[in-house]
Amino acid sequence: MMRSLINILDLSVAEIDELVAAAEDIIADPGKYADACRGKKLATLFFEPSTRTRLSFEAAMYELGGNVLSVSSGSSSSAAKGESVADTARTVSCYADIIAMRHPKEGAPYVASINASIPVINAGDGGHNHPTQTLADLLTIHREKGRFENLTIGVCGDLKFGRTVHSLIQAMSRYEGVRFVLISPEELKVPSYVKKDVLARSGIPYVQTENMEEVMPELDILYMTRVQRERFFNEEDYLRLKDSYILTPKKLVNARADLSIMHPLPRVNEISVAIDDDPRACYFKQVLNGKYIRMALILKLLKEAGK
Ligand code: CP
Repeated sequence: MMRSLINILDLSVAEIDELVAAAEDIIADPGKYADACRGKKLATLFFEPSTRTRLSFEAAMYELGGNVLSVSSGSSSSAAKGESVADTARTVSCYADIIAMRHPKEGAPYVASINASIPVINAGDGGHNHPTQTLADLLTIHREKGRFENLTIGVCGDLKFGRTVHSLIQAMSRYEGVRFVLISPEELKVPSYVKKDVLARSGIPYVQTENMEEVMPELDILYMTRVQRERFFNEEDYLRLKDSYILTPKKLVNARADLSIMHPLPRVNEISVAIDDDPRACYFKQVLNGKYIRMALILKLLKEAGK
């Protein structure tokens, strides 16, 4: 079977280091890569809305000298006529060299990967995983902190449905000295499989709290997330929980001077725009880093596929 990226743990720690180093090399000398994917095609199959992930994949492929075929919504493809993910993957394998797929159903990119004859990258599946956002987050953490070890990471907001949080916890649980502070309302706590199968199994210490200000002074990283309206079963619950945490300059009074404030975006109102000019705000750096790390990933998977 072709090497794909479905879960961040599909990549070893050594491979993450290689991807970060490759992204740093691209940042330092983008011209060196301008023809690296000449004649190659990336298919972006997005059955859920996206701005950053789809456009950064497409920008990444163009900057590598390649081309892009794009499905930007389920309604514009034969999925709307009932075509299966498996048949879609087989079909797109006839036209492209690599696929990036986002789908509302958890596991859909995996199904695509076992039916495609080209590499498949999970660009977000339901409330499950978002490994390339995690790669963008890891590159950002490495650039800001210079390390992955010995960090206290606060993750705040919708820890139940936030797939970026699940992938980030999986990735960071492999490093020494990492500790998590999980900040959420009771109803939006991290799923028990993440606590049991990831945190407990890796021996990673964590605390759960509803009070962001109380834990603020401990944090090296504060990873804010949006309450995922699209995953709620009823609007009433969403409206009650959506403003659980709004980061304002006042709430940062006791934060460290070297805190890194991250957010996968899109933001609704969990971070006040008054924080955007704070030197600790990293969320637009994450956006740019996302393009470079996806360039590195496309190069790696195409090389391994012999393309
Ligand atoms: N972070 C992220 O996945 O953003 P999009 O939904 O805009 O792709």
